[in-house]
Amino acid sequence: MKPDPTRAAQANNVVSPSPEAILRAVELLRRGQVVGLPTETVYGLAADGLNPAALARIFEVKQRPLFDPLILHFADAAGAFAVAEDVPETARELARRFWPGPLTLVLRKKEIVPDLATSGLPNVALRVPSHPVAQALLRAFAGPLAAPSANRFGRISPTDAPAVRTELGEAVPLILDGGPCAVGLESTVLFLAERPPALLRAGGIPLEEIEAVVGPVQRAAPINDRPLSPGQLKHHYAPRKPLRLVRHAGEVPSQVDAGWLAFGTQNASTPFPGVMENLSPTGDLREAAANFFRAMRRLDENERVATLYAFPLPAWGLGLAINERLERAAG
Ligand code: TXA
Ligand code: MG
Repeated sequence: MKPDPTRAAQANNVVSPSPEAILRAVELLRRGQVVGLPTETVYGLAADGLNPAALARIFEVKQRPLFDPLILHFADAAGAFAVAEDVPETARELARRFWPGPLTLVLRKKEIVPDLATSGLPNVALRVPSHPVAQALLRAFAGPLAAPSANRFGRISPTDAPAVRTELGEAVPLILDGGPCAVGLESTVLFLAERPPALLRAGGIPLEEIEAVVGPVQRAAPINDRPLSPGQLKHHYAPRKPLRLVRHAGEVPSQVDAGWLAFGTQNASTPFPGVMENLSPTGDLREAAANFFRAMRRLDENERVATLYAFPLPAWGLGLAINERLERAAG
């Protein structure tokens, strides 16, 4: 067998999450370095959440604008709420129900949270991830880790370790390989610093499940200048190739260089030319979410594909979160 030079190059910073690798990661984090971290949603680019120089390194590596604040990750709810002021009872209820898991709560911040983590906002985003490697690193580090998705700004979020490597390359000294992400979409971001609660980003926990706990949640359209969530820029999650949302069968292109993000049997009735990635042949929205970014990345890298196409998915459960990402990827 011929040695594969790509794999050899990847091997030097993508490592299996052994106890030694966790210690090495802690050491790097204490020195203000960044580390690639698996979570149940997407891979994160982690740094010491209380060290402004380390936070600055995240923005530098991701080429992320400073106005887009970061999520602080904690091993448990007690740690998370300790950096927040005026924690409402709804936050505690949601934490009991969904943490650890793909939910981020935005609350009033305490003084200890650096301005760079919140982009100068008075609120901080808090999350307790469930991935065992994220939990192990957070416990070993014994402090909050800021971690945005480990992609360059505006690009497709990575849902496995090789994708982190492709996105950020040598700039990350260590990427812990925790396998493919089970959820596959970023956490749901909920604004709780004022009443009523507002949805800032649809994500891994369906809105219906949150409303079952806290009642009606305000939904705001993702627009460029909404101060509540600076990260909701219109063009985001974007492949290099154009992505078009197809809303009617009449808009189906006849090109053979089309790359389809299909779902269930939705593409089965018409003969579709081009390359097909079916997110879930059985029409399961959770499976579709888990496959979404990886499928988009594969079409983006496929030489036979010039343009990506997708129909919107059913607008309930995780379908809402997937559609939000499709719309913004189509920009
Ligand atoms: O699942 C996730 O949340 C992943 C994994 C790695 O944990 N992280 C993630 O981070 O998606 P990022 O930085 O790609 O997205 C964070 C989102 C952005 O839309 C940002 O604007 C919003 O959360 N956000 C962060 N802090 C905020 C704050 N103080 N107020 C309002 N929105 C905030
Ligand atoms: Mg992101």
